[in-house]
Amino acid sequence: CALLEAKSKDKIKSTNLSLEDYKDKAKDVLSSSTYEYIKKGSLRKSTEKSNKKAFKDILIRPHYFVDVSNISTSTNILDKDVIWPVGIGPTAMHRLAHLDGEVASALAAGAQGSIFVLSSFSTASIEEVAEQAPDTIKWFQMYIYKNRSINMDFMKRAEKAGYKAIVITVDAPVHGKTYLKYPDFDLPPNLSLSNFVGITDRPSQTVSSSFTIEDLKWILSSTSLPVIAKGVLTKEGAKIVRDAGCTGVIVSNHGGRQLDGTPSSIESLPEVVRAVGKDITVMFDSGIRGGDDVFKAIALGAKYVFIGRPVFYGLAVEGQKGVEGVLDTLKQELENVMALSGCASLSDVKRDRVVHWKYYQ
Ligand code: FNR
Repeated sequence: CALLEAKSKDKIKSTNLSLEDYKDKAKDVLSSSTYEYIKKGSLRKSTEKSNKKAFKDILIRPHYFVDVSNISTSTNILDKDVIWPVGIGPTAMHRLAHLDGEVASALAAGAQGSIFVLSSFSTASIEEVAEQAPDTIKWFQMYIYKNRSINMDFMKRAEKAGYKAIVITVDAPVHGKTYLKYPDFDLPPNLSLSNFVGITDRPSQTVSSSFTIEDLKWILSSTSLPVIAKGVLTKEGAKIVRDAGCTGVIVSNHGGRQLDGTPSSIESLPEVVRAVGKDITVMFDSGIRGGDDVFKAIALGAKYVFIGRPVFYGLAVEGQKGVEGVLDTLKQELENVMALSGCASLSDVKRDRVVHWKYYQ
């Protein structure tokens, strides 16, 4: 961490960087073990890799003779008007990348008009993030824990602190197995999982591996906030959480960090949209690395998308400013792709604007 701090002090210019550039720069700043932890995928990383490859297999069909002198990316999500459809998904322990941690990420989200989803395994607490970033739209993510009182405590704290939704991650009843060069990676002693301070259960052993739909229904009945299920990849899964009463789903395979061998997240999106898209809000994450990817996810029916790893890369490079840079890059790329493909507003980004490459065979 000392090394991380020393390197962070270097002035790194971050204008006009692609998300790939941020990743390269972050690699120079972070310790090898932290970089590997952020980047990792489970087992043989086939899902982690296909999340990105599958985007390349989807091609954009441009229309011309359209006035694209004014591009609008604005949309509405859970009854809030937002200027564009990209937010920061829940990822654990932002202080690994920069000591300003989740507060910097939440402030960057607010500055760029993005929603910030705080992970329950954060290194800044529910309350600290709410106090420091009051103007950012914040949602709170949690797992289903063995001990329901932890879920209840977190929900009440999130409600009180002004978070607008609860995200329940359903795709990790156990940890996805990984093979790492630095397998003993652990939280440095100067950092803590802040939400768990005062809770006697060991955070790493709190997540339930026996939860059922009854547990989700209990969560739904225990909070006044809308509940979003994250990690849904199938029509069956989407219908179950819709019928239980969830307001939305995030189509996600956890960035390829849990079950290896699933379809890529973008390949799973149309199935979920077809099954529940008319009833509940379908959102998306896993593999977004550019504005063209955002465009493709929206065209395939996502109402809103989230990014994971790129936030760490921005944070590592330049703290809040770096995360703002990552979001700004995505925004500029999305506007550029919309203009070049003849989409003046997000409502023009429809299913017929993309096609799988096999179509051309
Ligand atoms: C995650 N993710 C995650 N998800 C979640 O629900 N709770 C969590 O605490 C975490 N923690 C976490 C840590 C790190 C380092 C990463 C990279 C990811 C998964 C995350 O929300 C999201 O699904 C993926 O990161 C999206 O894929 P991309 O954008 O990283 O490709």
